[in-house]
Amino acid sequence: MPRSFLELFGVEPKAVAQAPGRVNLLGEHTDYNDGFVLPCAIPQKTRVEMALSPDRLDHFAAEDLGQRVDCEPVGPTPPGFAAYLHGCLTLVRQGGAVIPPVLMRVDSQVPMGSGLSSSAALEVAVLRALRELFHLDLDDVRVARLAQRAEIEYAGVNCGIMDQMAASLADEHHMLFLDTRTLERRLLPLPEGAELLVLDSGVPRRLEESGYNERRRECEEAARLLGVAALRDVGDPGELAALPEELAKRARHVVTENLRVLEAAQGVDARRFGELMNFSHRSLRDDFEVSIPALNLMVQLLQGEEEVFGARLTGAGFGGACVALVREGWGTQLGEWVLDRYREKGQLGTLLVPR
Ligand code: GLA
Repeated sequence: MPRSFLELFGVEPKAVAQAPGRVNLLGEHTDYNDGFVLPCAIPQKTRVEMALSPDRLDHFAAEDLGQRVDCEPVGPTPPGFAAYLHGCLTLVRQGGAVIPPVLMRVDSQVPMGSGLSSSAALEVAVLRALRELFHLDLDDVRVARLAQRAEIEYAGVNCGIMDQMAASLADEHHMLFLDTRTLERRLLPLPEGAELLVLDSGVPRRLEESGYNERRRECEEAARLLGVAALRDVGDPGELAALPEELAKRARHVVTENLRVLEAAQGVDARRFGELMNFSHRSLRDDFEVSIPALNLMVQLLQGEEEVFGARLTGAGFGGACVALVREGWGTQLGEWVLDRYREKGQLGTLLVPR
């Protein structure tokens, strides 16, 4: 049995906050290219409880991981989950807020390594708890920006802002259409008559060990060679012909993916939205090369189903989950059916949404 805050620390928490994971429907690997994204919150959340520490150390507990870390507020970054907590605390402290040592207990329903932004959910939940306990003047965008800095500076992933904006501003019932350059955003309804299905492939990945940072460097190099600030500034894939072949493929994914998000955000029907998702998967697989055989198999099984409008890998790739847009009311049944076919091929996946 996981121990409560009281059992762990001998006092009741003084602030409690939570934040959701997210699933991205379209707009993958576009956010660090100043592009467009379309994520949605998932029902799974991360919860953080907090109180003042009785001594001069920060004390962190993650019961579901069976980990406890005691940490100097001004000291080296601890490993594992504590890096995110220490990172958020340090950034807020550096920002000028007087934050004494704290006790923190975290628990999360957001699966780790599935491409559903468990780390952003954790960062945003920590910052929300800090905001509540210390009455910090932080709006939701500022929370997202601090959370992104924690990820970059303390977890070593040179990520964009999508995940943290989604954890801070998205809900389960809308898609968050976000321009990652200006942070202009709108909440949009899902296509009529459709719902989301999210399946974990059972193949985990760690972003900091994956090709993520390398892809980012490739995109920046392509933008530099094209003489634009970011690949967002290329509107026509025809402009990429001058690039070396591999960089042209990477850039083509980003440019076409932005076009897909912009089209979807205009309000297309479920059938067209699904088509755009299928194209997105193909582009991630063939041009951006971040898919793996298990994800391709799962997507192929999903795409073969009559009631599935479209399917693709979601998140950074290299493992993790797939998202499908399916006929309303069909999610659970389809998910179980596809997971059976997946198991027949020797793979073990899980149904994450609907819950
Ligand atoms: C990870 C990053 C995001 C984004 C996606 C890919 O989730 O944290 O910023 O780049 O990968 O779309």
